[in-house]
Formats: sequence, C-alpha cells, structure tokens
Amino acid sequence: MKVLITGGAGYIGSHTTVELLEAGHEVVVVDNLCNGSEVALRRVEDITGKTVDFVCADIRDREAMDAVLAHHDIDAVIHFAGLKAVGQSVSQPLTYYENNVNGTLVLCQAMEAAGVRRIVFSSSATVYGSEAPVPYVETTPRGTTSNPYGTSKAMVEKVLEDLVEADERWSVALLRYFNPIGAHPSGKIGEDPQGIPNNLMPFIAQVAVGRRDELTIFGGDYATVDGTCERDYLHVVDLAVGHLKALKAVSERGVSVYNLGTGQGVSVLQMVNSFTRVTDVAVPYRVGARRAGDLPAFWADAAKAEKELGWVAGKSLDDMMADTWRWQSGNPEGYGG
Ligand code: NAD
Ligand code: WQD
Repeated sequence: MKVLITGGAGYIGSHTTVELLEAGHEVVVVDNLCNGSEVALRRVEDITGKTVDFVCADIRDREAMDAVLAHHDIDAVIHFAGLKAVGQSVSQPLTYYENNVNGTLVLCQAMEAAGVRRIVFSSSATVYGSEAPVPYVETTPRGTTSNPYGTSKAMVEKVLEDLVEADERWSVALLRYFNPIGAHPSGKIGEDPQGIPNNLMPFIAQVAVGRRDELTIFGGDYATVDGTCERDYLHVVDLAVGHLKALKAVSERGVSVYNLGTGQGVSVLQMVNSFTRVTDVAVPYRVGARRAGDLPAFWADAAKAEKELGWVAGKSLDDMMADTWRWQSGNPEGYGG
C-alpha cells in the first residue's frame, strides 16, 4: 500500500514509518516540524535503507494537502499529526482544538475530495475519562475527559464515527494508545520532547544522562502497589507494528476501535527501579506532591486487538528500558545534538 503518514517526523510516526517501509509499503510523510525532526526521517532512511518521501506542510493547509493527495496515489492515511501536551492544552485550549480538531477536519475534507477514505487515527486511553472501570475495554463509552487535549481526541473520534455514519465508503480505525515508551533497538531514533519532558520515561532518561538533576515522583500516597501511580507502558515499536495490523482493519468498511496496551499496570517506582536494574544507571528522585489530573491507576484490556488484529505488545519492560537508554545515551541532546 501507499500510506500518507501525518506527523511522521514525530516520536511514534517515525517508528511507524520504519515498520511500514520494512514491511514493503510506500510512505509519504507530511509534518510541519512543530514538534518533529527531519533528522529523525534521515535516521529512518539509515535504518531501512529506503527513501522517505517527506513534505514539510501543515495538515491545516488545504492547498498543501490537496497537492499531496493529488500527487501521490494514496491508499490510506495514518494520522499522527497533533499537539499532545496535556498541561499546555489547559493553558492553550484554542491552539489545541484548532490544531487537533480543525486540522483533522481539513485533512478529511482533502481526503474526501481525493477519494481517499481510509484513516487510522492516533487516539488515546484518555478518552475513557476518569470514571471508566479498569481495565479499560473498547465497549465502555467515552467518558468525561479532564483537559482540552483529551477532549480533542474524543471530538475527533466522534467526527470520524459520524463520517462513517454519513458515508459507508469511509473506513476508520481508532487506536487508543496507552503509554508508549522506548526507542528503536538501533538507538538511532527515539523520543525527543522539546523543553522539560511532561512524560515519565523521557524525564527518567534525561536524569540518567545528566540533563536533569533529579526526578520528582508526583505522589507517593495513592492506593496502589507502592503508593505511586500505575500505568500501562508499551514499547513504541510494538505500537508501531499495531498500525501495520490496523491498516488491514481499514480495508474493511466501518469504524473499528482498539486499545493498544500490554494489559499490565506498572508503578512509577517500579519504572525507576527497573530502569536502574537494566542500565545500571542511578536515577536520583524525590517524592513530591500529586500532579493535578493524574488518575491513580489504569491499564488496557488488550484482548480485542489480539483477537481481531493478531496484535500483542510482546516486548518486555526490560526491552523498553534498554532501548530507551541506548537511544538517550547515544543522543544526549536528542536530535539536536
Ligand atoms: P509527537 O509530537 O512526537 O508527533 C506529532 C507530530 O505531529 C510532530 O512531528 C509534529 O511536528 C506534527 N504535527 C503537529 N501538528 C501538526 C500539523 N498541524 N501539521 C503537520 N504536522 C503536525 O507526538 P507522538 O508522541 O509521536 O504522538 C503522535 C500522536 O499520537 C499524537 O496525535 C498524540 O496525541 C497521539 N498519542 C500519543 C501518546 C504518547 O504518549 N506519546 C499517547 C496517546 C496518543
Ligand atoms: C505517567 C506517570 C505521573 C512525570 C500522558 C497523557 C496521555 C498520553 C500519555 C497523549 C504518572 C508520573 C510523570 C514525572 C512523575 N499522551 N510522573 N514524574 O500522564 O499517564 O499520560 O501521556 O495522549 O494523554 O495524559 O503519562 O508519562 O505523563 O505520567 O511522577 O516527571 O508518571 O504522575 O503517574 P500519563 P506520564
């Protein structure tokens, strides 16, 4: 297939581009580089020995998107492009709705005009909201999201469902990611957040490599295995492979929804301790106040993706830690180094 990857110069998009190329697909990447790196795409070419067709453009630019879709015979779109910082979304709601929701509307209008009606969407476990029973299962209705970022994901899911309802020629796969971490085993691509990392794994890695002094663990008094929050961490390469499997799902009509997670919860302290055990690198930390908006614990019921897509997140936590460290220790300043 020839696949258009929006946001393909980002963390998950670059890893997915590797897997698509190695599976024999052709790819076109569109990215405005607001949080991605063209270096990542060059590294993807190093890893695969194949050429990445890259267009530096914004998905909100209708003319640019029309041109990409007219120039390439695209079979399906994998839609990663979006802003994803929860805290930033609270202070900049208009920016998030404009980029994430309006961006998707423009993309879908361009797809419709070009007769391309297969889309795999990067959704998030955050759409389950704060009341959903754990483990999260796809049949649970979307819940009350607690920030504009999560709400933008829920809104796009609804837009895509309504699109299929209105026109059965569309097919949509909604992939609800849990907590992707790790890096390609080559160490050439990985997670490279701009500024101070919001997420746990890149923060641990930056402490380990000496870019940060210590980790603050947000809360040690939750009703969990050791008082720290539990999450479902999956290897980004497993997640990338999940998109290959989802491309098959969108060859059928309709909407399909899949949790992409391991089905296991791991606490913050367990993450810190496993990183040090695997890498033999200490991670100084202190336990601080809880972070507003954090839920104590959630993880996926991952049975549906296994049953229907034949997908399982098979890489271990040790793999995630080792691969993270190989990337970060080899690229202390990320792609900017
Ligand atoms: P990322 O920021 O590394 O990648 C997103 C990419 O999209 C970046 O390269 C950025 O430059 C690009 N982009 C953003 N807005 C754009 C626009 N208007 N036009 C063109 N390009 C644009 O983030 P990621 O971690 O790779 O996440 C990819 C997708 O998966 C996002 O939609 C995110 O919301 C979703 N997601 C991520 C996580 C996670 O923990 N990383 C979890 C669940 C869902
Ligand atoms: C994990 C745990 C923190 C940093 C977020 C988004 C979600 C999705 C994935 C996009 C929590 C703790 C973290 C730190 C810490 N992204 N932590 N110290 O919050 O589960 O999910 O990323 O879709 O939408 O909400 O991931 O990595 O931020 O936090 O103690 O410096 O680590 O409190 O318990 P989270 P995270």
